[in-house]
Amino acid sequence: MKKIIVSATLFACVVGHAAAQSNQEAAALANQSGCMACHKAEGKLVGPGFQDIAAKYKDQPGAVDMLTQKVKKGGSGSWGRIPMPAHPQLSDESAKVLVTWVLRGAPAQ
Ligand code: HEC
Repeated sequence: MKKIIVSATLFACVVGHAAAQSNQEAAALANQSGCMACHKAEGKLVGPGFQDIAAKYKDQPGAVDMLTQKVKKGGSGSWGRIPMPAHPQLSDESAKVLVTWVLRGAPAQ
């Protein structure tokens, strides 16, 4: 396990790309950004569970960009009638970090 964390951290440093952010960092960002008021990793809260979202978009090309915009702009209709509010305070980069983490199934570690 430790080895995995070390190599993930190295990877994040070398690549420096949003998709390589560590799970802990992404989970902390989700907490700070208020996502966890409406979402859980597993199971529905106000919004769909992050693991359900990951399963839904598993094989969909372009899902990262589409969902990044949806998190920023808000919207409804994919899961039901309850809308997700817009998050205009998030940079594109932060929104993408969150979305790629959600699509990994929102692991805490
Ligand atoms: C006030 C409640 C609320 C907050 C806060 C919230 N969400 Fe959502 N989220 C929802 C709801 C409701 C949906 C379902 C929208 C729909 O049916 O299209 C949703 C859907 C989503 C989806 C899937 C969108 C789709 O089209 O399938 C993602 C990804 C997502 N949220 C990520 C986030 C992230 C990341 C944050 C934090 C920046 C966040 N949400 C904050 C309520 C919320």
